[in-house]
Amino acid sequence: MYVKQILIIGLCFWILVAKAQQPVITQLDSSTKTSIRGLSVVNDKIVWCSGTNGMVAKSLDGGKTFKWKQVSGYEKGDFRDIEAFDKDKAIVMAIDEPAVILKTVDGGITWKKVFEDTTKGMFLDAMDFKNDKEGVVVGDPIDGKIFLAYTIDGGNTWTKKLTTKAEKGEAFFAASGGNIKLKAGRKGQKNELIYVTGGTKSKFYSDEFPEGKLLPIVQGKESAGANAIDIWGDKAVIVGGDFSSDTSSTNNSVLVNFTDKTAFSQPTTPPHGYRSSVVFIDKNTLIACGTSGVDISYDGGLNWQLVSKKSYHVVQKAKHGSRIFLAGSKGKIAVLSRN
Ligand SMILES: *[C@@H]1O[C@H](CO)[C@@H](O)[C@H](O)[C@H]1NC(C)=O
Ligand SMILES: *[C@@H]1O[C@H](CO)[C@@H](O)[C@H](O)[C@H]1NC(C)=O
Repeated sequence: MYVKQILIIGLCFWILVAKAQQPVITQLDSSTKTSIRGLSVVNDKIVWCSGTNGMVAKSLDGGKTFKWKQVSGYEKGDFRDIEAFDKDKAIVMAIDEPAVILKTVDGGITWKKVFEDTTKGMFLDAMDFKNDKEGVVVGDPIDGKIFLAYTIDGGNTWTKKLTTKAEKGEAFFAASGGNIKLKAGRKGQKNELIYVTGGTKSKFYSDEFPEGKLLPIVQGKESAGANAIDIWGDKAVIVGGDFSSDTSSTNNSVLVNFTDKTAFSQPTTPPHGYRSSVVFIDKNTLIACGTSGVDISYDGGLNWQLVSKKSYHVVQKAKHGSRIFLAGSKGKIAVLSRN
């Protein structure tokens, strides 16, 4: 009897502790219906996001309130990626017709066109910035070659570069701004550019693999392949899958080990469905999200636990802070806390 009571009390306590450690997603009031894929969190207070119909928003109070603005002249623009540097400076990317990059230096009141390309078939997918000055934008292949443009002046000017030849039907997902990373070089080089493709072929490109290396991830159709990559030290985690069957966990994630030679492996417990965005919170903790839910990993991406079945397109951690934000369709914005 006594032992049984202790056991029951112990069990209750264990459940409470287990519950307290569960990540909690709290929906914020974004007061819009726009589909959001661009998210950039400067610090725990300053959050920028962007989406369809030329909409851009900013919060200065950690997401309590968002101020939306439709950028005039871009009412049909789809701003799939945004990079914010502080409360005044941000860069937003419209995918096509026209493929443009706009910059604001006055907190989003006015936007200046800093890049435009009217080439037929031009489709921009994602941007990444290594710091406030050096950045890159990637676009789908033009004449079979992957499109890249670089900036070294914080996005004021861009230099185009058509690079590696892609395979037929190999392209990029403009799902979360997460499939390209510009980082300090690993072996003494100035910069290293790493990006992942999808479609008929899903490949990993880096200095070591300028022609791309096939990923052990689902591919072979327009809706499948790698959607996003995040890097921490000598490792990276890639997520994706097939958005046309977004609850399937088959080959939807790849672990990258950069030690010695770049090596790929697959997680033991993959994320629970197609995921369009992934972010390292610390050395071992990662969050991934997609249309079929949100997952967390505490062991560097080897095992994933489902946090929510709610749909989100993009997850970001504060660049200079600790808070984690999610955004998705119908103006959904949320904060994920880990008590
Ligand atoms: C999943 O990956 C394994 C190992 O890389 C491979 O043998 C299998 O054919 C893949 N399945 C699909 C559906 O892509
Ligand atoms: C990466 O590979 C090295 C050796 O090639 C190994 O020692 C190390 O444990 C691996 N790291 C992970 C995170 O698997």
